[in-house]
Amino acid sequence: MLTFEDETVQSETPRMNGAASRLSLQDGPGSTNGIEAKNTDEHQAADVNRRISVEDKRIINCKADVNQLVPFKYRWAWEKYLSACANHWMPQEINMSRDIALWRDPEGLTEDERRLVKRNLGFFVTADSLAANNIVLGTYRHITNPECRQYLLRQAFEEAIHTHAYQYIVESLGLDEGEIFNAYHEVASIREKDEFLIPFIDTLTDPAFKTGTPEADQKLLRSLIVFACIMEGMFFYVGFIQILALGRQNKMMGAAEQYQYILRDESMHCNFGIDVVNQIKMENPHLWTKAFRDEISALIKKAVELEYRYAEDTLPRGVLGLNAPMFKEYLRYIANRRCQQIGLDILYPGAGNPFPWMSEMVDLKKEKNFFETRVTEYQTGGVLSWD
Ligand SMILES: [Fe+2]
Ligand SMILES: [Fe+2]
Repeated sequence: MLTFEDETVQSETPRMNGAASRLSLQDGPGSTNGIEAKNTDEHQAADVNRRISVEDKRIINCKADVNQLVPFKYRWAWEKYLSACANHWMPQEINMSRDIALWRDPEGLTEDERRLVKRNLGFFVTADSLAANNIVLGTYRHITNPECRQYLLRQAFEEAIHTHAYQYIVESLGLDEGEIFNAYHEVASIREKDEFLIPFIDTLTDPAFKTGTPEADQKLLRSLIVFACIMEGMFFYVGFIQILALGRQNKMMGAAEQYQYILRDESMHCNFGIDVVNQIKMENPHLWTKAFRDEISALIKKAVELEYRYAEDTLPRGVLGLNAPMFKEYLRYIANRRCQQIGLDILYPGAGNPFPWMSEMVDLKKEKNFFETRVTEYQTGGVLSWD
């Protein structure tokens, strides 16, 4: 866990160059040393040299002061932060009354549809807590760039909103909280996904873990790829499609609306994570070895298998015009896309997209429309609606 002590220790680490230094408790503006420094020309000159330039900034292992947001080096990170803030929403703004009536109506949903909703929530109610802990207790510490940290702070809050949204759906429908919140222990297809992720999260949250050697930096990069490309980029998608497919049939419309907002957030989390990965690769090309690339490809293949098993478990007989083989094809399709996004060869040549309506929802151009049309409604205090 990050402590104030950790920050102080980091501030004493050797500086990358004379111009870049971190603000420490000892030489802060209110300290005696700071006042004395202003009394001599010599020290005034030294203060000017402490100013950060963009060349000092790096995504990992940066020794420049992380408290200075500007000058920006990674504008893409700042712009994603601004877009994410413009996309703000809260779960309780969405009316759940039609979902509640449908769920209570014995004829409202089939048994298979009810199982799908419960298994779906069973994964998500804990997944976003895992995601939040991974950011706050792990990733944040190792990303040594303030504009990226600014986005991560926003992302962490969004993960809290997502957990809130899933809890709000469980509560609204009056589901058995014990059953849903323990599914990640008790349902094998969900437990296996989490068990796959946890070692990579543990790496980053281990208080003793520090970057700075090629081995440690590869560990960080591996965990970042697993988190962005596999967890946020693959493990959420079967679940998103299922609830959005219900919504397309005018069922569970409130839940589907919440999932649409979550999908938009997650799509940006995934894209931000991929930008971070690619920037780290660019700044540290020695990490991107053949052996490392092979290892990542094998992890992505394993993730396709696990997510497919989850799809089969949630849809044993096929509902809503969806069936497990369609998900196999879709997972191969998005696995290829993730590979391409981080510069790996595709794993499943010829895989197509059986859910073209999904790519429309994830499409960034559509996201722009979303910001242009919906944000105004949100900012004037109106309740969000979705057509
Ligand atoms: Fe999330
Ligand atoms: Fe996320």
